[in-house]
Amino acid sequence: MIRTVKTTPFTDQKPGTSGLRKKVKVFQQPNYAENFIQSVFDVVEGRQGATLVIGGDGRYLNREVIQTAIRMAAAAGFARVVVGQGGILSTPAASNVIRQRGALGGLVLSASHNPGGPDEDFGIKYNVANGGPAPEKVTEAIHARTLSIAEWHAADIADIDLDTPGETQVEGLTVEVIDPVSDYAALMETLFDFDAIRAAKLTMAFDAMSAVTGPYATEILEKRLGFAPGTVRNGTPLEDFGGHHPDPNLVHAHELYETMMAGDAPDFGAASDGDGDRNLIIGRGRFVTPSDSLAMLAANAHLAPGYAGGLKGIARSMPTSAAADRVAEKLGIPSFETPTGWKFFGNLLDAGMATICGEESAGTGSDHVREKDGLWAVLLWLNILAATGKSVDRIARDHWAEYGRNYYARHDYEGVDSAAADTLMAELRGKLDELPGTSFGALTVAAADDFAYEDPTDASVSRNQGVRVLFEGGSRVVFRLSGTGTSGATLRVYLERYEPVGGALDAETGVMLAGIVAAAEAIAGIRAHTGREQPDVVT
Ligand code: G6P
Ligand code: ZN
Repeated sequence: MIRTVKTTPFTDQKPGTSGLRKKVKVFQQPNYAENFIQSVFDVVEGRQGATLVIGGDGRYLNREVIQTAIRMAAAAGFARVVVGQGGILSTPAASNVIRQRGALGGLVLSASHNPGGPDEDFGIKYNVANGGPAPEKVTEAIHARTLSIAEWHAADIADIDLDTPGETQVEGLTVEVIDPVSDYAALMETLFDFDAIRAAKLTMAFDAMSAVTGPYATEILEKRLGFAPGTVRNGTPLEDFGGHHPDPNLVHAHELYETMMAGDAPDFGAASDGDGDRNLIIGRGRFVTPSDSLAMLAANAHLAPGYAGGLKGIARSMPTSAAADRVAEKLGIPSFETPTGWKFFGNLLDAGMATICGEESAGTGSDHVREKDGLWAVLLWLNILAATGKSVDRIARDHWAEYGRNYYARHDYEGVDSAAADTLMAELRGKLDELPGTSFGALTVAAADDFAYEDPTDASVSRNQGVRVLFEGGSRVVFRLSGTGTSGATLRVYLERYEPVGGALDAETGVMLAGIVAAAEAIAGIRAHTGREQPDVVT
């Protein structure tokens, strides 16, 4: 029994950096989620008899939208839906299940690090058969479909019990509820030396931020690796993440930061975000920027069994610091610079051109899945600590002594008036030709452009991916508007200064970047356009 419901398009369903993200209230409008899911199904070919994976980070609306998606998947011809118990699948675990099961794709229900609850955010992202976020040509086709959709279809199925593992057959569809953790934990055991980590007897604090990684971290860290009970904090996923932003940065995970800066800090501290794909790494007394973490992981990855054969290449998003490029150079392997968004790494990973990827936005991962993976980064760090016997601080200092240091910060101006933000970017783009040769304090502009990327595997081109101003000597500032926000615009200003080997490698980041901050203001007129004296978040 298939029910067909007439609908009209919503004009705001263009997927952003990472799927469609909106306020819960927007998703609760009649037909809103259905229109988007139907548009996905209308665009993907090969649904008849195929498997679809559905999982989410457990936030408010997760269970409801999963039931809707199951009914619609049945109507769309899927033969099997695999769903995580309780509606839970971390984003990297969903990517793994899609790959392991040979699924056609998956619906990942999350707004990642954005807050959850009735007045907060929800999201739907479609991942393709390689386990990764749909590439731009697919998201563009989905968007086009949302603008012409006239009806959606659902099978007449009562709510499925999502809490009991096992299979249910209904209306020609098999719904399989799986343990969300076990396949993922098994994959991690193939990549890392669990015995060595156990034997190292490290101490650790992991903040799951009341989000999806709680059950994964408890199973892997406390049960399989023998970390003390209580190592995992905030380990129960909550629909509203306890009212917090499940964003693992120094602002939203400040309690972990304080723990790690205290005299009695454990050896290692880490946190993950709402859907488990981001990571924050803090050693005792030492915060590691995501850009540095990528470089340090790449430089030491061979110490873990899964990467003992070496890396094929390293990829980073454009605003991520160039620290990883220096590692690639030393290893004699290629490095790639892509636009912001994990979807741009998928082709490089599929083609075997890159093994490790990372972004300044706290994402690192490898070719083991096609998403960034928070716990993977934590485990690779643990494996490196165990194999070297060094502290995080020692690894960081040794790294800078060998490669030099890329001082780095990102300044976010959140909830800015969209028109004002667009004007700022338009003015910047209008100035690109006149900037080279101009000086701002001690900094002289060497080049300025609007980043465009040509994918080396399929020659597809993505333009307007952020304005880069490169100074002589390797410093730079990048301006971009976020593609993941749900209200107003977020201006991101990425600041980077390279200090070579033998230079000031242990200075305060704020001091080292002051000149670039001043240049960014002079170039873009941030105060005048946004009315803000200070960024809202500095990471
Ligand atoms: C998500 C994406 C990342 C991206 C980040 C920031 O986490 O998966 O690939 O780097 O958002 O994106 P934004 O457009 O907000 O800067
Ligand atoms: Zn996330």
